[in-house]
Amino acid sequence: MSIKRGRNFLLSPGPTNIPDRVLRAMQRPAIELHSDELIGLARSCLDDLKPLFRTQDGETFIYAANGHGAWESALSNSLSPGDRILVFETGIFGEAWAGMGKSLGLVPEFISGDWRHGIDPQALEDRLRADKNHAFKAILMVQTDTATGITSDVAAARQAIDNAAHPALFMVDAVASLAATDLRMDDWQVDVAVGASQKALMSPPGLSFVAASPKAMEHADKATLPRHYWDWRRRLDEEAYMWFCGTAPEHLLFALRVAIDMIQEEGLENIFRRHQRLADAVRAGINVWAEAGALELNALVPSEQSNSVSAIRVDERYSAPAIREICENQLNTSLGGGLGRLSGKAFRIGHMGDINEPMILGALGSVELGLEMCGVPHGKGSVTAAIATLANSASPALAAD
Ligand SMILES: Cc1ncc(COP(=O)(O)O)c(C=O)c1O
Repeated sequence: MSIKRGRNFLLSPGPTNIPDRVLRAMQRPAIELHSDELIGLARSCLDDLKPLFRTQDGETFIYAANGHGAWESALSNSLSPGDRILVFETGIFGEAWAGMGKSLGLVPEFISGDWRHGIDPQALEDRLRADKNHAFKAILMVQTDTATGITSDVAAARQAIDNAAHPALFMVDAVASLAATDLRMDDWQVDVAVGASQKALMSPPGLSFVAASPKAMEHADKATLPRHYWDWRRRLDEEAYMWFCGTAPEHLLFALRVAIDMIQEEGLENIFRRHQRLADAVRAGINVWAEAGALELNALVPSEQSNSVSAIRVDERYSAPAIREICENQLNTSLGGGLGRLSGKAFRIGHMGDINEPMILGALGSVELGLEMCGVPHGKGSVTAAIATLANSASPALAAD
């Protein structure tokens, strides 16, 4: 039997660390389904998600489902069988979303990528200009691909669509970026954005969110893909029972309410700055390890390096899963593994949500110890480098006081 003491450091990129306050919010009995309390709670969550997506004009929906549910909601409410969709390949999640589209009867086309760069707005513009008959009905992109640690420029994609004067719906997966990296749905004319509870929203897995623009809502009337549970129109019913197409996931809503309260208390701008600052510290540590040539950050362009998650490639002479296993089994530190093309070749450090300086320094220290134990050559001093980075940037929470 192995005995573990102290807290496990959950540095996986979702589910993420759930604050005690959020956990405690669920420690209560269920309440009556049609009570004013539950209806008020549900309404407040739906309304307060809007500022997180930075939308005033859009409608928000909450599903008792993981992120895949929100993906299906986005597609099935706005598209019809045989519709063509254009998808960016910046990691595994764009591919998987498109794969879902295919099984629903849509026809995906990819703008391929090397998984080390974000989307190429020029390639998007060129492809859309060539689509003279406007065959593409939707453009899908993932803001932060959790597999590759790449954050793509949503505003630049919007600009490319506008340059080509293309009318397709613009859909953004913000599962790993919502409340960590800015997403300005109204300003950037995103038609459908999706999110999930278990990442920067600091909540248990099990809820996902969709925000739909007025243009997307109009499409919902014309779209003919079959849908029932996901149907936006049914969920706009006056009867609160229909907002969830059935019994509300009460305890997950209790948790979400407190998580949103915490986000409101800290302020979105401070949250973005905290994520930037902590991610910079993680990257400083990774770059120290990289000096010995056996490890490197997957995302090559600094402005595309995600503030939610870092994917670290490991030279093929060494085992990325072994590093992760040592950290998990012996060092109380949970990391993410490599996914898709990076399977067995990378590990990932999640740094989103309820996370602070000692958690980052602890994680870097643990991983460095894990590298030492695995005999993977690495530059030494990731924690020192991270401290130097943190010391040079003010903590946003302190700055706000
Ligand atoms: C960017 C992104 N999109 C979608 C998903 C799918 O979400 P879920 O696993 O909750 O279905 C994930 C999951 O990690 C993700 O990181």
